[in-house]
Amino acid sequence: QQVSLIGAPTDVGAGARGASMGPEALRVAGLAQALRSHGAEVLDRGNLQGPSNPWLDPVDGYRHLEEVTAWNQAVHDAVYGELSSGRMPILLGGDHCLGLGSISAVARHCRDTGKKLRVLWLDAHADFNTSLLTPSGNIHGMPVACLCGYGPKELVEIGGHVPAIDPKWVRQIGIRSVDAGEKRFVHEVGLEVFDMRYIDEMGMRHTMELALATMDANTHLHVSFDVDFLDPDVAPGVGTTIPGGPTYREAQLCMEMIADTGRLASLDVMELNPALDVRNKTALVAVDLIESLFGKSTLMRK
Ligand code: ARG
Ligand code: MN
Ligand code: MN
Ligand code: MN
Repeated sequence: QQVSLIGAPTDVGAGARGASMGPEALRVAGLAQALRSHGAEVLDRGNLQGPSNPWLDPVDGYRHLEEVTAWNQAVHDAVYGELSSGRMPILLGGDHCLGLGSISAVARHCRDTGKKLRVLWLDAHADFNTSLLTPSGNIHGMPVACLCGYGPKELVEIGGHVPAIDPKWVRQIGIRSVDAGEKRFVHEVGLEVFDMRYIDEMGMRHTMELALATMDANTHLHVSFDVDFLDPDVAPGVGTTIPGGPTYREAQLCMEMIADTGRLASLDVMELNPALDVRNKTALVAVDLIESLFGKSTLMRK
């Protein structure tokens, strides 16, 4: 497994500053070494560059649209380049607006290669807002909608095909905060959401069995991991903490079941905010979970 780490040090899409320090915190927490210990051949490509955060108010329902566009174009190009050369990209965020650049590149690669795409969106939030629905104007609340073709031209066109993905390809897990208008829109497009109530009632095992069904040998599985997916007790270092998320055990099982499919082909690790963390605890938990995603297990597996 040839893996490329791509840092995207920005928080232009977020409502709190600090996710721009996420890539370095993940490196300090030992991400590359952890991946190597599970047999991956890791290249750290360093950090992408882009505009700084001007910290302005939203304009027409979008905060920093120009800067968000520039960062997403850089992410798209880097992720697409790695996939084209047969490597697995791991995007180190950075706020979750960059899921757009990453997944639009993955979708493009799947069109090139005739692969079937599945996107697992691990998050407390649906990130399915539009400029009319958003309560904040923060574009990190909009990437899934943009990928499905609902968003400003400059964002939905990144990746060269509108829409970049079909909502049917997405499974969201861990959702527990959806804004009023966003809720209606998620329902309208029929996005498949396994919210916390579903996980409470059915358990993580059953949830993941359903979320991972309909994959086959030709499937490219992309995981977009917003660290605020995790319960804030486990992962306080994020800008938008929402109580009542998956526990450490539930998150481990989630990652292990993804690993067992053998289909993971690209990954985003997003929204880690070291400015709000405690002694890099959240980065360490993220690295631990990524190890499970790459096959760490207590005993020999059959
Ligand atoms: N729904 C809220 C908004 O649109 C929060 C979005 C949080 N997104 C994230 N990637 N952390 O403003
Ligand atoms: Mn490929
Ligand atoms: Mn989130
Ligand atoms: Mn998110």
